[in-house]
Amino acid sequence: MASLIEQAARRMEQLLAAGVDLQDLVPQAAVEASAKAEKIIPAASANSSSGYVELDLPSLALQGFLVPGAARSQLADQYRVIKRPLIDNAMGKGVAASLRHSNLVMVTSALAGEGKSFTSLNLALSIASELDNRVLLVDADVARPSVLRMLGLPRGPGLLDVLEERVTLSDVLLRTNVDKLTLLPSGTPHSRATELLASDAMRGLLDEMARRYPDRIIIFDSPPLLLTTESRVLASHMGQVVVVVHAEMTRQSVVQQALATIESCPLKLMLLNQASANSAGGYGEGYGYGSGYGYGEGQSFGGASAVVS
Ligand SMILES: Nc1ncnc2c1ncn2[C@@H]1O[C@H](COP(=O)(O)OP(=O)(O)O)[C@@H](O)[C@H]1O
Ligand SMILES: [Mg+2]
Repeated sequence: MASLIEQAARRMEQLLAAGVDLQDLVPQAAVEASAKAEKIIPAASANSSSGYVELDLPSLALQGFLVPGAARSQLADQYRVIKRPLIDNAMGKGVAASLRHSNLVMVTSALAGEGKSFTSLNLALSIASELDNRVLLVDADVARPSVLRMLGLPRGPGLLDVLEERVTLSDVLLRTNVDKLTLLPSGTPHSRATELLASDAMRGLLDEMARRYPDRIIIFDSPPLLLTTESRVLASHMGQVVVVVHAEMTRQSVVQQALATIESCPLKLMLLNQASANSAGGYGEGYGYGSGYGYGEGQSFGGASAVVS
């Protein structure tokens, strides 16, 4: 006797041959059951093609990332302060209540190696640890992607593939074992990848993301402002731009140059990264940081609270 599955397959072929749309035949209960099944994926079968990845949280904690349940640390406290205005602005409660795309947060810097990726991931993890907030971390530094590598995950399709219309956004989003954290990898690399960041396709995608996920904070790990012109175009579509400054390395004139490229962005926040007590003081004086955040021209994160050491 033919198995039930074989019978069903044969029946389906007959229906297809008769031109019946199979979508119409699936009972709602079955759709709900399969949606439920999708959510419960055992760790052993987790892989990127299932849209779910299992992060090695103990190993990430050892590398200084703020995974849920990690011991209280100075870094975690610093990020707690840093994320608050970002969340408030994103949810329309901050200084800029009517900000366009307020939930799109770009993390950039003047040059490479200032800590953009480190900051993006820690911000994402820190925000995801809150009760209320879901986070999407996008690897938009398409020429030097590092989010998957930092997380110890293999390369996979992502943003670039969506922009080239090979896949849809929901095909390449990766849910994780950090409940409120979803990832969008940078995708299949190619030589003109960075140009796509300044394309109409990217602008359309950002509009779609802001509209489809208004309750999610979307963090973009992005290319440096002074090394690619596309980065400033990307910045112009973001609600909030976090400029990471390597406290020990980056000259003030370079920081000023970087800020000048994004002058027209409504909300810029500056984050002093890897600061020792001394250099933080030095920058503080040089830029006139006060305590708390500053907004408007040449805005910055202010005070020790925005300094990551
Ligand atoms: N605050 C920090 N504390 C410890 N290590 C950091 C910190 N910021 C950055 N790093 C490390 O410095 C290196 C460069 O940072 P990364 O985030 O990759 O820079 P970018 O993305 O701007 O090129 C990485 O190895 C990163 O882990
Ligand atoms: Mg990086």
